[in-house]
Amino acid sequence: LSGVTDELAALVRSASRVAVLSGAGISAESGVPTFRESQTGLWEEFSAEDLATPEAFQHAPALVWTWYRWRQSLIQQVAPNPGHAALARWQRGMAGAGGVLSIITQNVDDLHERAGAEVLAHLHGSIFEHRCAECGKPAELPPPDYDGFTAPPEPEQPPTCACCGAFVRPGVVWFGEMLPMEAFEAASAAVRSADVVIVAGTSGIVQPAASLPLLALERGAPLIEVNPVESDISEVMDFCLRGPAGEMLPALAAH
Ligand code: APR
Repeated sequence: LSGVTDELAALVRSASRVAVLSGAGISAESGVPTFRESQTGLWEEFSAEDLATPEAFQHAPALVWTWYRWRQSLIQQVAPNPGHAALARWQRGMAGAGGVLSIITQNVDDLHERAGAEVLAHLHGSIFEHRCAECGKPAELPPPDYDGFTAPPEPEQPPTCACCGAFVRPGVVWFGEMLPMEAFEAASAAVRSADVVIVAGTSGIVQPAASLPLLALERGAPLIEVNPVESDISEVMDFCLRGPAGEMLPALAAH
């Protein structure tokens, strides 16, 4: 679909529990590159998937660390877009009417929060939190002081843990690592009890997040995808809104 039909509008209006799974695509219109787009500058020759692993951090800590600090600085410089704003508005509206809209995100940015929404689960952690790669002790760091848009900095070594001296790492979930259990359980419960599930801006490639929407099938809750192009999970969707989240989510939320 290229727009919200009467059938879809009615469905959304009648739902008192909505669950939304968001991915990198929802932040794309804010200027945060998605994971499977090609990269720029210093990182042109690396794919995000190659950098986001424990092995990469072990072998090239400076490269991986600086890539995350660069993304962090970029995220700090961008603003939420109309897609984030629509979800925040919709969430407040649902709460006011005795319903609930749960936001589950794979994004490590804070753009949902900055738009005024509450996030139920950050499945892949947060780029703003840091901890020791060995002992897990949380580390407080000042924000990066370079410009995330223009000059990717030269790779620099990560800081070290005040307790054990090992490298500090970003508080994100890397490929091959476990998701935070509490977040995943809260997300599963929200999807299981939802009347409607919206999947916005995700390629549906990365497990187990990509399987979450399938839990809606147990209750027969309809699945709505928001993505300009087909994703790996498009075939299980009941409705596919083919357009940018910044246009499609406000259109849905209007109902
Ligand atoms: N609106 C909606 N969707 C969009 C937009 C937009 N404006 N722009 C791009 N998309 C879609 C793309 O078509 C693609 O399907 O967003 C999706 C982004 O896919 P990925 O880059 O794979 O991001 P995501 O699905 O969030 O990746 C999952 O992989 O690298 C790991 O941990 C990382 O959380 C991430 C996970």
